[in-house]
Amino acid sequence: MTAPSAAEPLVEIRDLHVAFPQFEGTVHAVRGVSLHLAPGESLGIVGESGSGKSVSCMAVMRLLRSPPAQISADRLALEGIDVMAAGKDDLTRLRGRAAAMIFQDPMTAFDPVFTIGQQIAETLRLHREMGRRAARDEALNLLRRVEIRNPEAVLESYPHQLSGGMLQRAMIAMALSCHPRVLFADEPTTALDVTVQAQILQLIKDLQAELGMGLIMVTHDMGVVAETVDRVVVMYGGQVMEQAGVIDIFERPAHPYTRALLASIPGQEGGRRRLTEIPGGSPDPSDPPGGCPFHPRCPEADARCAAEAPPLLTGADGRQTACWRVTP
Ligand SMILES: Nc1ncnc2c1ncn2[C@@H]1O[C@H](COP(=O)(O)OP(=O)(O)O)[C@@H](O)[C@H]1O
Ligand SMILES: [Mg+2]
Repeated sequence: MTAPSAAEPLVEIRDLHVAFPQFEGTVHAVRGVSLHLAPGESLGIVGESGSGKSVSCMAVMRLLRSPPAQISADRLALEGIDVMAAGKDDLTRLRGRAAAMIFQDPMTAFDPVFTIGQQIAETLRLHREMGRRAARDEALNLLRRVEIRNPEAVLESYPHQLSGGMLQRAMIAMALSCHPRVLFADEPTTALDVTVQAQILQLIKDLQAELGMGLIMVTHDMGVVAETVDRVVVMYGGQVMEQAGVIDIFERPAHPYTRALLASIPGQEGGRRRLTEIPGGSPDPSDPPGGCPFHPRCPEADARCAAEAPPLLTGADGRQTACWRVTP
């Protein structure tokens, strides 16, 4: 494993394709996604359910079983290390040290038969080669760091004994235990109520700033993006529709799909309008439409949009848009 250089992006995905062959036909989950994350940067990946956000992140973390997944990319790298070529030991090290992931359902991260303390300590012993005593102390520190007020009690608790919010904090503590340089947060607050959601998002944001971590926040919720990231990738139908700074996305959304997503944020002017008000549903990933994936639902689509997929073009300001109707 070569040492990563400082100029290297933390995460680099170039022209990623992921397909899952099934009886009924192949599911084309990701179709040519490119994105990157610089050290310390925060990036939102936003789009409706099924747009390929999770699969893209799992692919670069090498968490997809292959087969069945068919993965191809020009480049797939964490900290400058090609994860397609990396061996099993390198991957284990990378996953612990370079990148950690937190999910919507913290129960998937914890084993129901061990206490929270046992599981955090085990990670510490494995990845940071700590002794039993040191691991317990560090587990307590980590729980305090995620603002758990009674860390001793939580350490002795089994996952089912904690509330959703507490468990989510414990999972973040476990993810942070190896000092990752990038944290993938995949819908980390979707299952929580609004108040707890706001607290967890604030916690992730604070930790990111404090630890200088890179952050990839995966969400279907534009509100979450607004509160947590500097830059946004908008995905639809397994492709990138738009990529820009968070202020540009909110104040000058260029892609019709981005505008539709913004219209679905509750509390916007005109009250709660949902994306489902746009005619049609998400594209069928086993039979994606030709042309732009959004064209069947796009109010601005014309014949060209149906016939030919628009390339993702980069403007002078670094902003990217894939739409025939937009000049970057
Ligand atoms: N293991 C799998 N096998 C088959 N299809 C999958 C698998 N994982 C994801 N998919 C499909 O790939 C598409 C993209 O999924 P995903 O990346 O999870 O979407 P998102 O995270 O944007 O909601 C969806 O149609 C989903 O059903
Ligand atoms: Mg997902």
